[in-house]
Amino acid sequence: MRFLTGLQPSGQLHIGNYFGAIKPAVELQEKGEGYYFIANYHAMTTMTDAASLRENTHALAVDFLACGLDPEKSVFWVQSDIPEVNELSWILSTLCPMGLLERCHSYKDKVTKGFSPSHALFAYPSLMAADILLYDCDAVPVGKDQKQHLEVTRDLATKVNERFGEGLIKLPEPIISELTAVVPGLDGQKMSKSYGNTLPIFGEEKPLRKLINKKVVTDATPLEDPKPTEGSIILSLYKLFASPAQYDEMIAGHQAGGVGYGQFKKDLFEAYWEYFRTARERRADILAKPDYVQEVMTQGALRARATASITLERLRKAAGLSWF
Ligand code: ADP
Ligand code: TRP
Repeated sequence: MRFLTGLQPSGQLHIGNYFGAIKPAVELQEKGEGYYFIANYHAMTTMTDAASLRENTHALAVDFLACGLDPEKSVFWVQSDIPEVNELSWILSTLCPMGLLERCHSYKDKVTKGFSPSHALFAYPSLMAADILLYDCDAVPVGKDQKQHLEVTRDLATKVNERFGEGLIKLPEPIISELTAVVPGLDGQKMSKSYGNTLPIFGEEKPLRKLINKKVVTDATPLEDPKPTEGSIILSLYKLFASPAQYDEMIAGHQAGGVGYGQFKKDLFEAYWEYFRTARERRADILAKPDYVQEVMTQGALRARATASITLERLRKAAGLSWF
């Protein structure tokens, strides 16, 4: 079973990204073959600054490895290191009805948010389909927001097979993480960098302690009174990091009263800090070896390209592009 997914290098990773995308990808390494990549061509549709794109790509590679992506088990690469993806994207776009792209809400949402309505932003789903179909994968784990893009991918794969030959391209199954709870932000809305309510996975201890202390929203229940457990942001976040016994203890602490939110936030910070200890140590090791990430990504690109070139050659022949 081959699993494939991509993550955009669009900024500092937060715990929503961790529980929604990174942890599931790391766990799937035990169930099959992971094909994971950094979607930097995609990030170009919304990021215009070259230095930020470069830095974020490097940072995401470091952080994904620190979180447990094993480059021996999985193939891990940067999208733009495999130029074949653009050729497949072009082939797919010749089969892609305008109406299919016009129906995609991600384009409309991004334009509403103020991003430039470029051709690349509009054609994003056909590049995403190429990302997926190039690597003969069986399943694609993604968040709910990507469901429609997976439908486009399957539509395009069907069209390729109808036009150029049955069985030419494998139709991947989506694995939509309906079950992965949406991680709440520090203010209780969905955690997202666009809402400025994130808790990063990595960072310095002091500012992070302060962030939790100052930014996790609580109500005004006095210290001595019992605190509501329903809708408590502290409890929802604590549940992600604490053992069931620790979590029950914090619930009991809320119900009993006599303990202030300051103490609960302190407990939350300690559990969070402990949870990412191994990842933090691994990250420090990675950063101490200056060429390590580049070597890993170069090897990953070689492996990815070996798969990509086979699929593409098959298609080039079928489509009449390899003409001699
Ligand atoms: P952001 O909303 O911060 O811009 P992205 O859209 O770049 O995050 O998300 C990257 C991945 O992380 C996606 O797979 C998405 O489903 C997951 N993700 C992001 N925020 C959350 C969250 N609050 N809870 C669960 N998963 C999330
Ligand atoms: N569009 C995805 C996102 O914004 C990232 C992505 C690009 C992707 N190509 C992919 C995810 C291929 C899965 C498979 O989160």
